[in-house]
Amino acid sequence: MNDIFETIKKIAFEIDNAIKTEELGYSDSENSSGEEQLKLDVQSDIIIEKAFASVASVKALVSEEKEGVLELSKSGTYTVCYDPLDGSSLVDVNLSVGSIFGVYEGELEGKNLVASAYVVYGPRIELVIADRKEAPKLYRAIGGEFKFISEIKMNEKGKLNASGGTQQNWADYHKAFIDKLFAEGYRLRYSGGMVPDLHQIMLKGGGLFSYPATTDKPNGKLRQLFEVIPFALMYEQAGGEAINDKGERLLELVPSHPHDTSPCFFGSHYEISALKKAYGIEE
Ligand code: AHG
Repeated sequence: MNDIFETIKKIAFEIDNAIKTEELGYSDSENSSGEEQLKLDVQSDIIIEKAFASVASVKALVSEEKEGVLELSKSGTYTVCYDPLDGSSLVDVNLSVGSIFGVYEGELEGKNLVASAYVVYGPRIELVIADRKEAPKLYRAIGGEFKFISEIKMNEKGKLNASGGTQQNWADYHKAFIDKLFAEGYRLRYSGGMVPDLHQIMLKGGGLFSYPATTDKPNGKLRQLFEVIPFALMYEQAGGEAINDKGERLLELVPSHPHDTSPCFFGSHYEISALKKAYGIEE
């Protein structure tokens, strides 16, 4: 699988360069979720597809920007599901964005995720890689290559609260829960990009990121294969938790379509336990 991570490192530099040098704006196409595609989304998707085309261990690719599965090699072992440029509309306002990768072996479902990675394009480029065995590893781009910085471990309880979705469409119990966290002293941190928002919470030791079911998005907004499941592995391996609104581990989700979404909650033990109480979920 090392060939996959080495390819992701190469991709990170190429996408970072595209973000810094390409013209912004919309392409003429829509993605499979019906959203207008920014040129950078399309460009990042092409960079990733080209980079993985010759990686022997990769059997197939599934992109958040495209419908269906792209078969690459019958002899490959892994399917890489990726969101090429998550939160790309934030590039317009010069905030951080990211790429997310889930490496699956077998059927595309949570239990078959063997590793995940994400890249944050911010003032610096950072890469985090997780597998099923160890704590996630943080790498930083220094002098044109990625240097290992540290393992990521979350505390039992954090201080940050990143609450997604339109508040007027939240359920009353969700609003009461979020208000209670703020009343306990939690501080709001929400940029609108899940990569930098989840990254900040993990690196600062803990807290809660939530994207609940809302009246306009009853299944949440974030996509299981490309976003939710890969980050669930990160949080669990860092010592945190990642569940849906029924208390099920996000790592056990079974999408029926590659673009299925799910309500999702990522946090340290204290906040997830408080969430379960607020949602009436048995511990
Ligand atoms: P997009 O790529 O369409 O900008 O969406 C970004 C995603 C995710 O990165 C972020 O956490 C979430 O959407 C924000 O959604 P809300 O604005 O609805 O909170």
